[in-house]
Amino acid sequence: MNGKPLVYLDSAATAQKPTVVLKALSDYYLKQNANIHRGVYRLSQESTVAFEKARVVVQQFIGARYAHEIVFTAGTTASINLVASSFGKKFVNKGDELLVSEMEHHSNILPWQVLCQERGAVLKVIPLKDKGELDKGELDLEAFKKLLGPKTKLLALTQVSNTLGTVNPVTEMIALAHAAGAAVLIDGAQAVPHMKVNVVAMDCDFYCFSGHKLYGPTGIGVLYGKEKWLKELPPYQVGGGTIKTVRFSGTEYAELPLKFEAGTPHIEGGIGLGVAIDYLNSVGLDLAGAYEQELLRYATEKLSAIGGLRIIGAAAYKAAVISFVVDGLHALDIGTILDQQGIAVRTGHHCTQPLMERFGISGTVRASFAFYNTFEEVDKLVDGVIKALKMLRS
Ligand SMILES: Cc1ncc(COP(=O)(O)O)c(C=O)c1O
Repeated sequence: MNGKPLVYLDSAATAQKPTVVLKALSDYYLKQNANIHRGVYRLSQESTVAFEKARVVVQQFIGARYAHEIVFTAGTTASINLVASSFGKKFVNKGDELLVSEMEHHSNILPWQVLCQERGAVLKVIPLKDKGELDKGELDLEAFKKLLGPKTKLLALTQVSNTLGTVNPVTEMIALAHAAGAAVLIDGAQAVPHMKVNVVAMDCDFYCFSGHKLYGPTGIGVLYGKEKWLKELPPYQVGGGTIKTVRFSGTEYAELPLKFEAGTPHIEGGIGLGVAIDYLNSVGLDLAGAYEQELLRYATEKLSAIGGLRIIGAAAYKAAVISFVVDGLHALDIGTILDQQGIAVRTGHHCTQPLMERFGISGTVRASFAFYNTFEEVDKLVDGVIKALKMLRS
């Protein structure tokens, strides 16, 4: 990249794909391509089996009770929109309250904001605690408890912040929300690549993530929903695949999960995601997560030693994401000089503008790690930042 070996430190945006995933995609088109769920011929049946097998792989990966609780979507954003629309139509009324946190990705703010506008509901925000020197980028749980009440219909919360790396105490927060009678949606986009997730132990009502951040293809994602909720919610998009019978006098919808999968799905994407999960399981998520923590510790120590550099987000539990700012310099300029050295980092607000406002900054430089990164790459990042600061300050 720009004449240098690529140092890819933007896995929180999207992960690089293992060759087994690429092979699964090309194998699908070369050997299995046929539309699913409809054909009586063998090719279609084989394709259907491969797609449904991937659903079971996802189910086991997140510890769901049933495969039909796994809905394939286009990604985290699509999953959240589905719930906001379907849950909203049935359960949200004027004066009801929805809760999100100050550290949410825009994808977990806007669907709720729109829903509140449509239904006359109120969007409430769980703040971060300890503004100023002590600011670690953790949620204020006392404020959260006070925000919960009889009007709270749903809590939509990220498990891991894509900007700060903060790992939120979701299990504890879900229990508190349930005690107040609220349902809970967890945005797991930044969690599943780094840590084992068990939706039953966590007891969330909905859990969302994207394939492309989990070493799988783009355009495929997952919505997990507890069976009781998915049964109750109306379909989101409707069309072929979602029905049992259609008459002009009325339509009867299909069983789960097909009720929520209108049209031809991203067949090879689902299959590719299953292969990516198998691959990650063979690496060992615990091992990968522990190694990423070593990278995080090393990078935090090295970057903190650079004069004028301030790390944004120092939670006690963090995923392998480091955001930083340098006094007097623009994140974009630092990112551009790093790119000239072959180092790919993300700059800007990371789709978390309210969080930027909270910290009084316009953006950060974000390095995010995956298990394929190395300590040498962290050294290159640190050297690159030092070089960028010299150039920009001279
Ligand atoms: C925490 C979080 N939620 C949601 C999303 C949206 O994911 P997607 O663009 O794959 O729908 C992202 C993507 O960066 C994210 O980091």
